[in-house]
Amino acid sequence: MSDSHTCPLVSTAKVGKTSLIMSLVSEEFPDDVPLRAEEITIPADVTPERVPTHIVDYSGNATDHTANVICIVYSVNNKKVPLILVGNKSDLVEHSSMETILPIMNQYSDIETCVECSAKNLKNISELFYYAQKAVLHPTGPLYCPEEKE
Ligand code: GTP
Ligand code: MG
Repeated sequence: MSDSHTCPLVSTAKVGKTSLIMSLVSEEFPDDVPLRAEEITIPADVTPERVPTHIVDYSGNATDHTANVICIVYSVNNKKVPLILVGNKSDLVEHSSMETILPIMNQYSDIETCVECSAKNLKNISELFYYAQKAVLHPTGPLYCPEEKE
């Protein structure tokens, strides 16, 4: 069996990181959401891929309410972390953002998957964490240096 995985959730403030984790754990949207969820481990036997996964909540702090950009920093000589774009709060809009997002995803091979979800409606929550596991275990080619594969 593989080692465990760690899946950090990062974003600007108030997009619903803590709510997503709590909805996953309790299968219920939390009315009162703390700033930060406890670190949890999904045990191997309840995950489709049979790998224990630590989910870590990074709370946005008060200052990042004004953020206009998020910098995800990686080291160019060792880029092996797939990115998953998570569009939360899908319950608040009528139309899917997928049309806008998919071309971006196709352009950047580092983006492994995009998923629209709602912590409130419990839509795509377990799928989201499943995609995260899958991205680690079965990454698509381009992340791992296509030049070397040829
Ligand atoms: P920080 O820890 O401050 O960075 O915020 P966060 O990303 O953890 O967001 P949090 O879970 O605290 O949610 C922020 C607000 O959005 C709360 O009022 C939630 O109730 C609300 N919220 C979270 N998820 C959803 C969702 O799927 N739909 C709707 N309508 N509201 C949501
Ligand atoms: Mg939070």
